[in-house]
Amino acid sequence: MTRITDDLRTYVSALLERGEVNVVEREVDPRFELAAVISRSQKESDRPILFKNVRGSDFPVIANVYGSLPRMAEILGTDEAGLNTRWNERLETAASCTDYSREVPMPADMQSGKISDLPHIHYREKDAAPYITTGVFLAMDPETGVPNLSFSRCMMAGDDLNMACCIDAPHDLAKYQAKAEKRGEALEVAILIGAPPPVFLAAVASLAPEEDELQLAAHIAGGTIDMRPSRCLSFMIPAATEIVIEAKIRPNERTQDGPFGEYQGYYCDVNNGAYILDILDVSWRGDAFFEGLLCGSREDLALLAVSWGARIERGLKSALPSVLDVTISAAPNACIVRIDKQYEDHARDVIDAVFRSKPQYNRMCIVVDKDIDIQDLKQVWWSFLTRGALDKRVYSYPDLGGLPGENYEYTGYLGIDATMSLSSPLERATTPGENEINLRDYVV
Ligand SMILES: Cc1cc2nc3c(=O)[nH]c(=O)nc-3n(C[C@H](O)[C@H](O)[C@H](O)COP(=O)(O)O)c2cc1C
Repeated sequence: MTRITDDLRTYVSALLERGEVNVVEREVDPRFELAAVISRSQKESDRPILFKNVRGSDFPVIANVYGSLPRMAEILGTDEAGLNTRWNERLETAASCTDYSREVPMPADMQSGKISDLPHIHYREKDAAPYITTGVFLAMDPETGVPNLSFSRCMMAGDDLNMACCIDAPHDLAKYQAKAEKRGEALEVAILIGAPPPVFLAAVASLAPEEDELQLAAHIAGGTIDMRPSRCLSFMIPAATEIVIEAKIRPNERTQDGPFGEYQGYYCDVNNGAYILDILDVSWRGDAFFEGLLCGSREDLALLAVSWGARIERGLKSALPSVLDVTISAAPNACIVRIDKQYEDHARDVIDAVFRSKPQYNRMCIVVDKDIDIQDLKQVWWSFLTRGALDKRVYSYPDLGGLPGENYEYTGYLGIDATMSLSSPLERATTPGENEINLRDYVV
């Protein structure tokens, strides 16, 4: 471990020292109260929140570490402006990170227990049960041995022996499970809670099935990742992980999970295809903390934005001129693209290119001029409302279809050109000095 961001507890300590964490000393109820505090805190700031006293469990809970693009940039070793570029560069060059795994012994202060020892966080009113939302699943391809990292919500149904988890069909983990199931075997998984930040970020990436996502994690971390033996599985585990659940996904059997308040801010239906996790072992480092994440919150969207936004930006920059940057974290399901407009149909070409690339879950593309802050939706709408005929700059894409299993009534695709015409440019009214003055020098 070489950088403060390579181990979650070291990073949280550094953020505490910098005075950048909201610390909750009083006892909170894991049933709704903890999530309500996360939600309120996120409305006011993007600071992480550390709950020191969670009723019914000895573990403190940290949340919202990833709820800010600057912190994600820090983990990637860059600044916010360079986030997408750095992410794409790490993805493209991950294979060059060879001999990335350094074997270390089991930490001496390792402890073990049961699922019921962990905080049981009930996030939303109609969630079927408490859920683990930050579990990074580490699994090996049963045929090739290639490691994969991904997320899957786990329903804590009140039993120490098994949990239900939801893995969407397109994900590599579902493919690994299908391969194991075909052989009649259970798939071994390690569920990492409080994973080292580079591992957490690598889990949002979708690499090709033959590409190693642990290698990507090591590449994000600067070259190596410490791996310790597991207690029951046939593979090693990132040693800096706070809490590890070792389990097997049962073959040829499914159960139910949900309803659950999902990332779009609505409850998903009961999922009849949930997988059954047989729990083999639960272990944690001394003084471990648990990690919480409110699905549908800014933290959830910021994580998805890193992965999907960077992918869209890479595709656009290789296809079209003068694409400056892309964000998908300003609004759910929308990507906003900033261009240095070169010709009248430039924005329309960008919108076409975004939708041609079949961006997962991305329903709307808004293109703005280079003077607009794409993180500020007020500016984005102002530019659309003031820079041309509203009815002539909205394009619908009725024939693109939805994702498998999706209710198409709630989808659809829309493009908005919010740029001004090159032939009749508008000049923005500005006041010299307005960006430079410090208001505290004037108003006491
Ligand atoms: C916080 C968070 C929670 C997620 N939960 C789930 C989930 O419960 N089920 C799922 O299939 N995908 C979930 N995802 C999405 C995938 O795990 C993620 O996109 C991952 O990249 C898929 O990996 P793969 O492309 O290597 O298969 C979640 C993503 C995040 C950021």
